[in-house]
Amino acid sequence: MASIKWVVNGLVWNDAAGELEKKHIRIENGVIAEIVGGEAPAAASDEVLDASGKLVSAGFIDMHVHLRDPGFTHKEDIATGTRSAAAGGFTTIACMPNTRPAIDTPETVRYVLDKARTEGNGVKVLPYAAISKNQLGRELTDFAALKEAGAIGFTDDGVGVQRAAMMKDAMALAESIGMPIIAHCEDDSLVEGLYVSEGKFARDNGIKGIPNESEAIHVGRDVLLAEATGVHYHVCHVSTEQSVRLIRLAKSVGVKVTAEVCPHHLVLSDEDIPGMDSNWKMNPPLRTPRDVEAVLQGLEDGTIDMIVTDHAPHAEEEKARGMQLAPFGIVGFETAFPLLYTTFVRTGKWTLGFLLRRMTEIPASVFGLDSGRLEAGAPADIAVLDLESELAVEPEKFHSKSHNTPFGGWKLHGWPVATVVGGSVVWSNHTA
Ligand code: DOR
Ligand code: ZN
Ligand code: ZN
Repeated sequence: MASIKWVVNGLVWNDAAGELEKKHIRIENGVIAEIVGGEAPAAASDEVLDASGKLVSAGFIDMHVHLRDPGFTHKEDIATGTRSAAAGGFTTIACMPNTRPAIDTPETVRYVLDKARTEGNGVKVLPYAAISKNQLGRELTDFAALKEAGAIGFTDDGVGVQRAAMMKDAMALAESIGMPIIAHCEDDSLVEGLYVSEGKFARDNGIKGIPNESEAIHVGRDVLLAEATGVHYHVCHVSTEQSVRLIRLAKSVGVKVTAEVCPHHLVLSDEDIPGMDSNWKMNPPLRTPRDVEAVLQGLEDGTIDMIVTDHAPHAEEEKARGMQLAPFGIVGFETAFPLLYTTFVRTGKWTLGFLLRRMTEIPASVFGLDSGRLEAGAPADIAVLDLESELAVEPEKFHSKSHNTPFGGWKLHGWPVATVVGGSVVWSNHTA
């Protein structure tokens, strides 16, 4: 891992001016020491990352990912997961506890943190711990001990917490130790066995679809419980119009609720699904164009705070079982920024700053992280991106162990070229 002292000649987004400016970033002891304009400073070439003509941003932060260790390392492990993250410009990732065993004991939290230290590439890995033992929704885990071991929040992601009383107890306990609850919102009784949304695709194929209420019922229940307990409640992968409406209402009356959305729920609807192809199967499912419009609106008006990938790698043979039997989920790290930059920034719908904030400083401020800012005093966690070259998505070239994406062949701009964590280059496409 090459340690550097400068990132020179890069283009840094100036939010006040609404434009890119050429800047040089000096790094000292893993921290940004200063950001200066003018002539590029003279320094030894092996200590300089030349970012001429490239966008330089704070490294991306992804608060929702699946790294699959322990238990499912045929899908991903910490080495490939952190490499894939770095190849997407991510410098901090928060991993979900639906492993085997689940991350539901202090030992497992420490196992993940140790693995990140010994097998990871330097990308910061922040583990969530389970709300319930084995994520079965029966018995709460030991929140205080899990926090002590290094967990950053509690979630049963992968499944919803079915019983309101358990969720309320979890929120009260989390609140008492100053920790957030992160919720995968899904009422099993409305979903069982279904795998695409209610909508045109389901109708055209004569199959029963997952209704929007399966998600929104949990959102509605949980914002009431969050109001009653005072906990910081964070909604995972918002995908329906109804959920957006409920979060907006809850925020308007002061409930401490935050929310995230995934690139695929912003870019795709159920009407884009080309056929019975399991690379289009994820949970929550792709919803109707009306829902896509509503989550976009929610992100734009601040109802939804941040963008996450829900990077969910699955092996080829698992995805080959067909739409009905294949596991839910798509990989996300290596396409997230190019997809959103190409779809929303190059088209003029969003400013570059709007997108960058939702992948850097907003997740950092919501979860109290000291990264996410490109300024003196911040950790030197930096993404360098090429906004000009147009390249096709090539899933077989992903650094992830898995290649399950619906975006293969898409021609995109905005590809990462180098990623720096704490002043060390953890990934660069020149040396890859
Ligand atoms: O698509 C998904 N994949 N949604 C989830 O909730 C779980 C995740 C996974 O673990 O594969
Ligand atoms: Zn989930
Ligand atoms: Zn997830």
